[in-house]
Amino acid sequence: MLSLDQVDSFYGRSHILHGLNLQVPTGQITAIVGRNGTGKTTLLKTIMGLTDRMAGHIRLDGHDLSAEPTFRRARAGIAYVPQGRQIIPDFSIRENILMGGFATTGRGRARGGIPPLVPKLFPYLMQNLDRPGGVLSGGQQQQLAIARALSAEPSVLLLDEPTEGIQPNIVEEIQNIVVRLNTEEGLTIILVEQNVAFARAAGHHFAMLEKGRAVAAGPIGQLTDDLIHRHIAV
Ligand SMILES: Nc1ncnc2c1ncn2[C@@H]1O[C@H](COP(=O)(O)OP(=O)(O)OP(=O)(O)O)[C@@H](O)[C@H]1O
Ligand SMILES: [Mg+2]
Repeated sequence: MLSLDQVDSFYGRSHILHGLNLQVPTGQITAIVGRNGTGKTTLLKTIMGLTDRMAGHIRLDGHDLSAEPTFRRARAGIAYVPQGRQIIPDFSIRENILMGGFATTGRGRARGGIPPLVPKLFPYLMQNLDRPGGVLSGGQQQQLAIARALSAEPSVLLLDEPTEGIQPNIVEEIQNIVVRLNTEEGLTIILVEQNVAFARAAGHHFAMLEKGRAVAAGPIGQLTDDLIHRHIAV
């Protein structure tokens, strides 16, 4: 279980998350929904230790990570796929993938090399390892960003809007991969997702953010149309 207990988070003097409590059950998908600018990305960055400052506690299976630097959180088993993918276009697909293991390889977690899930989930990447990342389509770059995160051999995957800005015919492919990472590989996933239909289809639990606060959370069945209309739809 990953848990956040009374978490506040800051960029400089900007106070973005306020007293956030969140329980992320192991082996399940927790969907994070909410309007633009409400703090969804900041939540993932805070879990990874990438905001300027936080207060409160973040624990993974009882271990308090709140004061740990990002690389120790990676070694504890958390990996992050950022919004907008952030791959390095001039690096080869292979180099982009291997980068994701730098903090963890040889430290008792990742084995190094291309992670075994890549040929299984992303055959296209596997067949094109020496091409630059920049030649890939948006959907393929999303696959690359996920493959990079898998290099760390994580147990918890933080996915920030994996289908944002991707051609409609590829969206379903990415969604299938997210679901398979959970059902076949047993990864615990926090899925930030604006697509409510997908959040409902894939998620076991949800949390709704508004202005940096969790205004609702629970089993996915409680993510009702009424809640959506009150907090997301204009
Ligand atoms: N690096 C930063 N420095 C200062 N403020 C920031 C920074 N990044 C984000 N913010 C602010 O924090 C708030 C939350 O932003 P965040 O990116 O977490 O929202 P979001 O819910 O992910 O939005 P979106 O749906 O557009 O991705 C916004 O008011 C944003 O302007
Ligand atoms: Mg965001």
